[in-house]
Amino acid sequence: MADWDASLYLTFEEERTRPARDLLARVPIRSAERVVDLGCGPGNSTELLIERYPDAEVIGLDSSPDMLRQARARLPRGVFMQADLKSWTPQEPTDLLFANAVFQWVPDHNAVLPRLLRALPQGGVLALQMPDNTDEPALALMREVASKGPWAAKLASANAARDDLPSVGAYYDLLRPLSANLDIWHTVYNHVMIGPEAIVEWFKGSALRPFLSALDANMQREYVAAYTAEIARAYPGRFDGQVLLRFPRLFIVATR
Ligand SMILES: C[S@@+](CC[C@H](N)C(=O)[O-])C[C@H]1O[C@@H](n2cnc3c(N)ncnc32)[C@H](O)[C@@H]1O
Repeated sequence: MADWDASLYLTFEEERTRPARDLLARVPIRSAERVVDLGCGPGNSTELLIERYPDAEVIGLDSSPDMLRQARARLPRGVFMQADLKSWTPQEPTDLLFANAVFQWVPDHNAVLPRLLRALPQGGVLALQMPDNTDEPALALMREVASKGPWAAKLASANAARDDLPSVGAYYDLLRPLSANLDIWHTVYNHVMIGPEAIVEWFKGSALRPFLSALDANMQREYVAAYTAEIARAYPGRFDGQVLLRFPRLFIVATR
């Protein structure tokens, strides 16, 4: 898959950073020495961590060169490293592993989370948030449009790129035996968007990436046009012409 486009991702920075703020508000650590922002992206979540823990060494970790470039430009004094969460484990005592909107992109992350939690000292925290939206019209329509058009064969693997999240019960069974305290909750956001095209733009920066990167420019245009028409039907304008993007997200805060 092509690299992430950090600028496109940041088009909806305020909305995308809000769950990171909500997650951080529930992290029960007053002061920290070492914090790692897993899947730091363009540094928006890292910036929040630096604000909250000004005396800590805060490190941003990501697998994407473009995201890391943006993060370094945004936070020139920040420490960033390129690594893949499939295999990365902290080598030094770490108070907080923070992961906003990343583990939905890590296949079989239920094998990764216990490994990370075990690596924390007593009282250390693993905090994560993932979109739990694979059944929402915006994602269902991505798959439906992909499976019907002339692009169907090319998009077969994109259609399988994002699994549904495991159930809350499965996360509880997995993480509770390793945690002194475990907090799991959902929040459903209703983002106000200026029209259906804005919803499409939002997902071009995230969930549409595996679909678009599998197509050439012409087919991308046709696929996006077909998808936009379906989105306009599924997300009708409100009284003022705005549309509401319903967005459920799953939050987990595990204390070792
Ligand atoms: C949706 S962005 C989240 C950015 C930021 N944390 C935020 O709060 O908005 C997801 C990030 O996870 C990174 N990522 C995806 N899979 C990864 C992996 N296996 N290892 C490390 N980073 C990964 C992507 O490169 C991307 O920057």
